[in-house]
Amino acid sequence: MSQKYKPIFIFLDTDKHASPFDILTVIDLIPDVVVLKYEQVTPDDAEKIIYDAMFPRGPKGAKFTKVFVNGKDLNTVNAIVERLRKIMFPPFELAVIVDPRGSYTTASAAVLKTLQLSMKLGLGSFEGKSVTVLAGTGPVGIAAAWLYASEGANVTVTSRELSRAQGVANSINNELKVNRVVGVEARTPEQVGRAIENADIVLSTGAPSVTLLPLNVLKSYGKRVRIVADVNAIPPYGIEGIDPNMDGKEMIPGVYGIGALVIGILKNNIETELIKKALQEPKGIFDFRSAYEIGKNLFLKA
Ligand SMILES: NC(=O)c1ccc[n+]([C@@H]2O[C@H](COP(=O)([O-])OP(=O)(O)OC[C@H]3O[C@@H](n4cnc5c(N)ncnc54)[C@H](OP(=O)(O)O)[C@@H]3O)[C@@H](O)[C@H]2O)c1
Repeated sequence: MSQKYKPIFIFLDTDKHASPFDILTVIDLIPDVVVLKYEQVTPDDAEKIIYDAMFPRGPKGAKFTKVFVNGKDLNTVNAIVERLRKIMFPPFELAVIVDPRGSYTTASAAVLKTLQLSMKLGLGSFEGKSVTVLAGTGPVGIAAAWLYASEGANVTVTSRELSRAQGVANSINNELKVNRVVGVEARTPEQVGRAIENADIVLSTGAPSVTLLPLNVLKSYGKRVRIVADVNAIPPYGIEGIDPNMDGKEMIPGVYGIGALVIGILKNNIETELIKKALQEPKGIFDFRSAYEIGKNLFLKA
């Protein structure tokens, strides 16, 4: 009799308490799933846990064992993923989902919503467009800036600290072997204005309840801006005048808005598809790149 393997999801979370968000999503999606969760996980912990998960079910069973890396601390999340890449080898590789606090699926959804609206408005793809990612130094902003740059956009990342913005820009340029991402300081309304004055698209990825782009700054500096989008769902929103339910509505003459709840709906759909994909695939790292490809396919099917 051939053995039937249950799907097992191992959550490795860097935080004190593992987020129930993704655990609940997995449980609702896969009725017979078994969830194991580990908290405050370091790269060394991850190595020990995953070594012990790779072998007991044999090569066949390993195909049914999945890993979900989560947590607020992006540097530790990245270090864990790098460690897993290093220690896993055929035929014991496991499929690994990486979506730290929902940031990668959120970034993919935000970028895709702006792409969809750009196409609808007849502005075309991101190739050669200028995009400003406000407060693009958190997990959502970094992934979004990476995706825009990978699609050929010229990207400006802002931060309250010049060195943080430049750090993000340099690492994306180095990774993609391009020179189209710049980091600028944007603390004052004038600095924010200058950061958006050449932008076709502005995506706001700041912390909750922080307004980064006041409406008067958008009106006076954003002469070229056609699309604004915001991932902050907790008022006050990141862009003044935007509504979280806005889905491509003209917010002020010539400027069309996309709100956080609209992005959140696509984010949830992308996460569901990402989990299904990782369930089907025996191995691989499923991060914001996979989330973006999955989201694109959802649009193509729609
Ligand atoms: N819709 C969804 O499903 C969903 C899912 C996940 C996250 N989100 C939302 O996406 C947004 C970004 O998430 P994240 O985890 O990437 O955010 P984050 O790391 O908490 O913050 C992003 C950036 O905001 C800036 N910032 C923080 N506090 C600030 C303040 N008081 N004033 C001005 N700037 C400030 C920081 O940039 P500098 O220090 O470099 O200036 C920080 O790097 C959040 O609003 C989050 O709630 C939405």
